[in-house]
Amino acid sequence: MSATKTILITGGAGFIGARLAAELSRHHRVIVYDSFHPQAHQDPMATRLHMAQQGINVRVGDLRDLAALQAVFAQAKPDLVYHLAAETGTGQSFDHPLRYCDVNVMGTANLVLAMRQSGVRPARIVLAGSRAVYGEGAYIDAGGRPAAPLQRSPDDLAVGCFLPRGANGLPLVPVPTQAGSPVAPSSVYAATKLMQEHLLRHAFWGTDTSVGILRLQNIYGPGQSLHNPYTGVLSIFCQQLCSGRMLNIYEDGQITRDFLFVDDAVRAFVRIGLIAGLPDEAIDIGSGQGTTIYDVARKLAALIGRSDDALQITGAYRPGDIRHSVADIRRAAGLLGWIPEISLDTGLRALVHWSGAHERRVAVHAAE
Ligand SMILES: NC(=O)c1ccc[n+]([C@@H]2O[C@H](COP(=O)([O-])OP(=O)(O)OC[C@H]3O[C@@H](n4cnc5c(N)ncnc54)[C@H](O)[C@@H]3O)[C@@H](O)[C@H]2O)c1
Repeated sequence: MSATKTILITGGAGFIGARLAAELSRHHRVIVYDSFHPQAHQDPMATRLHMAQQGINVRVGDLRDLAALQAVFAQAKPDLVYHLAAETGTGQSFDHPLRYCDVNVMGTANLVLAMRQSGVRPARIVLAGSRAVYGEGAYIDAGGRPAAPLQRSPDDLAVGCFLPRGANGLPLVPVPTQAGSPVAPSSVYAATKLMQEHLLRHAFWGTDTSVGILRLQNIYGPGQSLHNPYTGVLSIFCQQLCSGRMLNIYEDGQITRDFLFVDDAVRAFVRIGLIAGLPDEAIDIGSGQGTTIYDVARKLAALIGRSDDALQITGAYRPGDIRHSVADIRRAAGLLGWIPEISLDTGLRALVHWSGAHERRVAVHAAE
């Protein structure tokens, strides 16, 4: 393990950030800057107390507050910055474009300014990027040639034609995405995540601060809010199944996602923060396996003791939803020496176990 560093994590009280902060605090001095967004935090005081017990210095503040950010930088003088704070709901971003741009884009610009104005020059800044920047993702045609999928049309979706088509109207075959795949954000959230990448790259170009970008697939596991209706499909499913409700599954149930357990994602963050040489391009982080929403819902239902009758394929669709997503993780393996270690079955068991215990703890708090 390298020498002790001072590490600032924006959004460090969130789902991924809190686990990253806990891991890093074992060997480093960790400062968390987080606004405790009510959508992501049910019990901010309990989270703050828990983090303080781990020796993590928690500063409550908003990315949009330049003066507060500047003060934190001037005081802490971090060697390494992780930028995770963000508005994170894809669907919600259509309804609140201003807020998403304000926090994700202007907030990132504030971070850059705060560093400059406080005269602090961290050796590295790592962004929690998103696979959302690829939009529909990478595809090949029947001849195996790379082909750009057209955005799926409401007319096609309305009649149950869910497969993305190429320019000639024929369905395409999905392939894993990697940094060289074309970017084509299909939501406001995705556009802001891409803008964050550009902002950081340009702001630190030619400086002593290197920029690391991890494009994350669907991260799941203990600690993800069970009450945020806008993010974390598996947490939402888990909560709904536990409370005896039906699961409504969009399209034909065959949407695929790449689910990565949170501790595997945290290991990738630790690696990219601390390795000596840093590659220029973004690095894709996922399990490398596509799983259909129907299959993952069945696995969860079985673990919770519900039958397949609890799952209902609705044929409904949402604007901005993409059909398939899976990461090509060979670069992560080569550059970071990272591969996922937790299987989906093991990760789902951990999520179900945690969600039961967590709900019981919240119920006891509420009754006290
Ligand atoms: N979880 C995933 O599947 C996933 C996938 C791709 C990318 N990401 C990215 O990873 C990062 C962390 O995501 P997460 O799943 O832990 O989400 P999260 O919502 O649990 O954590 C985000 C944290 O940011 C804080 N925050 C929000 N707005 C803020 C503001 N204006 N000022 C300061 N803090 C603010 C929240 O309070 C929260 O603690 C985000 O940047 C997200 O875009 C996550």
